[in-house]
Amino acid sequence: LAATGLATAATLSRRPPVTGAELRSAVPLPPAFEVPLPLPPVLKPVAPGRYEITQRVAEVEILPGIRTPLWTYGGTFPGPTIESRRGRPVTVTHRNELPVPTVVHLHGGRTPADSDGYPTDLVLPRDWADHHPMPDPRAVRTRLTRDYTFPLDQRPALLWYHDHRMDFTAPATWRGLAGLHIVRDDAEEALGLPSGARELPLMIADRAFAADGTLDYPSVDATLRDRPGVRESFLGGVLGDVVLVNGAPWPVHEVDAARYRLRILNASNARHYELEALTDAGRRLPLVQIGADQGLLAAPVTHAALPLGPAERYDVVVDFAGVPVGSRVRLVNRLGSGRTAEVMAFVVARGARDGSRVPAVLSTDLPSWDSPARVREFSFRAGQVNGGHGWLVDGLPFDPARTDVTVPLGDVEVWRLVADVHHPVHLHLAGFRVLSRGGRPPLPHDAGLKDTISLRPGEAAEIITRFDGHRGRYLFHCHNAEHEDMGMMANLEVV
Ligand code: C2O
Ligand code: CU
Repeated sequence: LAATGLATAATLSRRPPVTGAELRSAVPLPPAFEVPLPLPPVLKPVAPGRYEITQRVAEVEILPGIRTPLWTYGGTFPGPTIESRRGRPVTVTHRNELPVPTVVHLHGGRTPADSDGYPTDLVLPRDWADHHPMPDPRAVRTRLTRDYTFPLDQRPALLWYHDHRMDFTAPATWRGLAGLHIVRDDAEEALGLPSGARELPLMIADRAFAADGTLDYPSVDATLRDRPGVRESFLGGVLGDVVLVNGAPWPVHEVDAARYRLRILNASNARHYELEALTDAGRRLPLVQIGADQGLLAAPVTHAALPLGPAERYDVVVDFAGVPVGSRVRLVNRLGSGRTAEVMAFVVARGARDGSRVPAVLSTDLPSWDSPARVREFSFRAGQVNGGHGWLVDGLPFDPARTDVTVPLGDVEVWRLVADVHHPVHLHLAGFRVLSRGGRPPLPHDAGLKDTISLRPGEAAEIITRFDGHRGRYLFHCHNAEHEDMGMMANLEVV
């Protein structure tokens, strides 16, 4: 393997991120590594390139023997996975049978603005009386259904779709509105990477459960968040004490003694992870990163541990050959404590032949931009909103009626992003490359094309991108979902 960088544990931050207090579940929690890892169902098209998803309340058994009502895409959590081919457009009709308005965003998609899920472009439920008029002259409201069209003219990658309603993204995704969307192409499939049953999507998300089995959350009502005490419980973001993978608590999965491709997404609202794969004998298996948020790297990068901020994705190959049959490999979280230090386990069930490979060259189409037309700087800091604490971009809370940045279509720009505490900053429309962190070269896990960068406390990072593909109104924001709902989002107009 071409290890272009070996991140040792020492190069990674040992300090846990500044985040909110962890909610404590009030129901008995199952032992780790007993619930089998579920794989989200793959959605069948109703016609070529056409899908339908009904958003509805469903009772789902997340913890054994306990029914949890969720807001779902199609009745499951995670929602159904959409499998697409590069350059083949897909239209998804979302039908809203939930009690609240919703917005669907395809995270990482290069999507025309009218299908990008702008936070005030609502799909209203039946009989919704709109008590929340918003100062947004351009808002689009549809009743019951809306078609979202995705050209998918982009590199193959693990994308995900989730709710993006203004002020309510955090409670809506917490309650279950998240699913995967995988884009593939022939070139990637010709590489010989592990595939079929040896390719596993892993959506990691923490949650907490109230005594009645419902998901615990401080408040789903934005107005209540301003009450003394409630806002404080939101401030760092909401953390749960249960780690779910594909909607199951600390699951276990039987594997062959062979290479597996793990397509990892951190779909948590606010929790950061630092993943390590440990054998029962205490040996650390290398995490061979082959891809980032926006698809394959140029060459594999081998990590001892991999930090994962909210909304980040890593495409990783782990080789279970050489692990004794019958023993376990645990995926652990070095930033967790107690039960949140465990994520899931693999049981090596049998020896097996392995025809897969990890080529030294994975892709040759990564953009490398230079000569930026301009350099901009944005700060991501706490501040005052309506007399309480909030989160701001350049000193301002999100306002759909204000354009914060105007970029001519096709321009290359360098953005310098400055953070006070941990902020995973996400840019819609445009994948970017990390140029520097804290005035130093990027870290090994910054390789490739990203759409979310996890800024560390006090850190400034520079990213470079080209704004092309579509004109219109897009967003950039912190993907700590509570920070986002508390104002840390801004408008980007591509003209
Ligand atoms: Cu994953 Cu603007 O969102
Ligand atoms: Cu943030």
